[in-house]
Amino acid sequence: MTHPTDFNDRMLSLGLARVSEAAAMASAELIGRGDEKAADQAAVNAMRDQLNRLDIRGVVVIGEGERDEAPMLYIGEEVGNGDGPEVDIALDPLEGTTLTAKDMPNALTVIAMGPRGSMLHAPDVYMDKLAIGPGLRPGVVTLDMSPAERVSALASAKGCSTKDITVCILERPRHEEMIAELRTTGCAIRLITDGDVAGVMHCAEPATGIDMYMGSGGAPEGVLAAAALKCMGGQIYGKLLFRNDDEKARAKNAGITNLNRVYTRDDMVTKDVIFAATGVTDGSILPGIKREPEYLEAATILMRSKTGSVRRMTYRNPR
Ligand code: FBP
Repeated sequence: MTHPTDFNDRMLSLGLARVSEAAAMASAELIGRGDEKAADQAAVNAMRDQLNRLDIRGVVVIGEGERDEAPMLYIGEEVGNGDGPEVDIALDPLEGTTLTAKDMPNALTVIAMGPRGSMLHAPDVYMDKLAIGPGLRPGVVTLDMSPAERVSALASAKGCSTKDITVCILERPRHEEMIAELRTTGCAIRLITDGDVAGVMHCAEPATGIDMYMGSGGAPEGVLAAAALKCMGGQIYGKLLFRNDDEKARAKNAGITNLNRVYTRDDMVTKDVIFAATGVTDGSILPGIKREPEYLEAATILMRSKTGSVRRMTYRNPR
């Protein structure tokens, strides 16, 4: 029999979907209004309000920032109504604030929950990331390989030509060299302007046409992406990148001792978790919020790593 303080992922998952839905619904009126901060704030307020209704003793381990820089959903904030299991929560109330403000594709609200100690306390620094979808031998591509070697290795593993591989990358000046090297393989490259949690999730959804994600982005987003792939299947590697001593100090404060470690998916997410994401703007994984005169409609993907179950649901609420 399940004890009220056990991490009952089955029962908690619908509550988590509600949290994700509420954040997306709250940002709906701010899609395409050019105000990133307002959109983010609306999502943060709604996510926090819903989280505090859940029967959990939660701690935010991946959140809006350090306590002194984020008034709400900061790292270490206790959430939930104080009854129920002790859980860790990784969240991004609006993954793609700029995408939302500009009404561009693939903005999501994202949240993962697991038992205490289940997720890496990643500091807010960059992470070098490499991800592929399920069904491939562990280590078929690695961070040690050059970008071109990764494409060749993945093509051989899939039994296709390098021309049949599509790589997703954040369009940033820091990735120009990587992109130039990838061009020599003949692979296709899908450039995205923001939103690398969705970028990584694309690898596990064949309909997106993306085979591999690579490049640097936020470390917190890396842990969220690892949680998603733990549910969907697929591999992700991440290595923290430090630009200065302050960033190294942040990592040490977060309890990280080996600053050169390459984390696998299961190093970043060590126990079974539940994961929910709701579409804010239309994307390849989820449609965005539908704004009709009478109602708002949100689409959510809700997944449990224990069972590998993936549930897609639509929520309609009068305006
Ligand atoms: P925000 O939602 O906070 O705007 O982050 C979007 C994002 O694109 C992430 O998906 C990504 O990990 C990170 O920013 C990349 O950082 P940078 O814009 O500094 O390259």
